[in-house]
Amino acid sequence: MKKIVLVGSTGVIGSKVKKLFEENYHVVTVNRTSGDFRLDMADAAAVEDMFKKIGSFDALITTSGYGKWGTIDEHSIQDYHDGLNSKLMGQVNMVVIGRKYANPGASFVVSTGILAQYPVPGGISLGMINAGLEAFVRGAALDMENMTINSVSPSFAKETMELMGMDSSTGVPAVEFAKLYKEAIESGKSGEIFYAK
Ligand SMILES: NC(=O)c1ccc[n+]([C@@H]2O[C@H](COP(=O)([O-])OP(=O)(O)OC[C@H]3O[C@@H](n4cnc5c(N)ncnc54)[C@H](OP(=O)(O)O)[C@@H]3O)[C@@H](O)[C@H]2O)c1
Repeated sequence: MKKIVLVGSTGVIGSKVKKLFEENYHVVTVNRTSGDFRLDMADAAAVEDMFKKIGSFDALITTSGYGKWGTIDEHSIQDYHDGLNSKLMGQVNMVVIGRKYANPGASFVVSTGILAQYPVPGGISLGMINAGLEAFVRGAALDMENMTINSVSPSFAKETMELMGMDSSTGVPAVEFAKLYKEAIESGKSGEIFYAK
């Protein structure tokens, strides 16, 4: 059975990804507070130590990372750094360090979000992070021989809108995003951003 490392397996989207992949893959779960391995993906030394323990693997999905929600007036400089360290560099750590341990032909999928292309008030940090990460994906795809790297760019998950007490009628069920990670892994494409239809 192929081995997939899933970072963020307890989240709104990651829990659906886990369910989908468990049918055909051995899923190794990674979070800060639960799972087979517990770490903050922003901690590069901890990430390296984890991959040494996991050994070789066939796919890696990250559905994890923090970015502040708030307007420019509500952001301190540290808030931008916190998001860059977590959602952007955390996922970059997983790819850059993980590829040294991955089997030939391995697939990587990170999570960005449509704020990269469609800004809304409050989305300044996440939009910046998502755009930077998508540029990383396109660049890394050129350099990562014998491997693929893609991004899934979710819009707003219905479940997340409900958790935030918002009207969720325009939300996309998280399971629809989960299917995109599978499509990205199995497509053979690289350097692509996968959006919900
Ligand atoms: N949900 C949406 O509507 C939406 C929209 C656009 C983009 N996205 C993006 O999609 C991804 C998943 O979103 P989500 O809403 O499913 O997230 P979520 O419900 O907040 O779950 C995040 C998951 O990642 C883990 N995690 C968070 N930070 C981590 C870190 N630094 N190191 C290791 N594990 C970490 C969490 O577990 P622990 O707390 O135990 O660490 C949890 O399992 C995120 O990158 C998010 O920005 C989501």
